[in-house]
Amino acid sequence: VLEPPPGPLKDTRAKLVNDKSHPWKPAGKNDIRGPCPGLNTLASHGWLPRDGVATPAQIVNAVQEGFNMGNGLAIFVTYAAHLVDGNLVTNLLSIGGKTSKTGPNPPAPATVGGLNTHAVFEGDASTTRADFFFGDNHSFYETLFNQLTAFSNKFGAGFYNLSVAAEFRFQRIQDSIATNPQFGFSSPRYFTAYAESVFPVAFFIDGRDTSGQLDMKVARGFFQNSRFPDGFFRSGISTTSTVIGAGIDFIFSKHPIPPGGNNGAVNSYTPDPNSADLSQLCKLYTDFVNNTIRGLYPNAKGVLLAALNKNLDFFYSPLAGSDCPQVPAFV
Ligand code: HEM
Ligand code: MG
Repeated sequence: VLEPPPGPLKDTRAKLVNDKSHPWKPAGKNDIRGPCPGLNTLASHGWLPRDGVATPAQIVNAVQEGFNMGNGLAIFVTYAAHLVDGNLVTNLLSIGGKTSKTGPNPPAPATVGGLNTHAVFEGDASTTRADFFFGDNHSFYETLFNQLTAFSNKFGAGFYNLSVAAEFRFQRIQDSIATNPQFGFSSPRYFTAYAESVFPVAFFIDGRDTSGQLDMKVARGFFQNSRFPDGFFRSGISTTSTVIGAGIDFIFSKHPIPPGGNNGAVNSYTPDPNSADLSQLCKLYTDFVNNTIRGLYPNAKGVLLAALNKNLDFFYSPLAGSDCPQVPAFV
């Protein structure tokens, strides 16, 4: 029996999360880190297992406790990642590369490759990580962080904020169009790219500070060192998908660009008429289940099939009661 996802926090106030029981420690040589500075930081402070291998319930708990991510958003993002990158039978997910710690492999084409796996969740035009085409899609990349700093100076008076996010999101897309022949920017990456541009504003600013301005030294701590600032308070706002959606709409509106990708050559960006756009959350969900997840598990049986369907139920649960129907269980 798989543990169901945790419910919401009882107390969603800002509070000290870089506390005595969660000291930063550098990752040891067997500790896994990956493309997500949020989860990396939670692991390096012991809000998640320090080795970087966790159950989805542990991840939901940690993002709620450590960053005040709202329950529905936490469940949706965590189970999306677990379904494509995690081991559904052992219930373990690596926040970075593939590891034997997640247990025996299911049959191909499933990979259980951890969050570093390209093109199922991780994708191109990331904020501080290079495109998979260039060889390393998960390590902090100083060149990009320097560009981010330059944009924060130019558009944010030295801080990262939603205006900077809008300009830098567009810049990262233009950069990938011009340099990555394999650039992919269809759903689900289309959504996560915009969301990840909002996340630093929502989560990396101390909860006692409501300015919406992220100091770039603090930003570097998270992005590069997986580290909370000393005395860091989590946000005092429970960040729901509605909060993130408002940030996404702001960023998109400054430089609208449709979902799509390059066609094997640089500067060949072509819109993808089959991809969900930002107004189609139900299509995002439905296509992710029918195409991305089903593509990895075309033929699951027995214990694996049962675990797959259970996780699909958990993934859908934030949408229950909406006008988006659940995709029927896999058979
Ligand atoms: C990026 C997973 C929560 C902040 C990513 C990426 C993955 C991921 C796979 C790589 C996407 C890419 O750039 O190609 C998850 C999962 C979460 C989660 C499964 C579970 C709820 C969070 C939280 C924060 C966060 C709570 C902030 C506190 C970010 C940021 C990026 C990112 C800023 C962009 C990194 C960059 O390109 O520099 N996340 N994330 N994430 N995540 Fe998370
Ligand atoms: Mg990426």
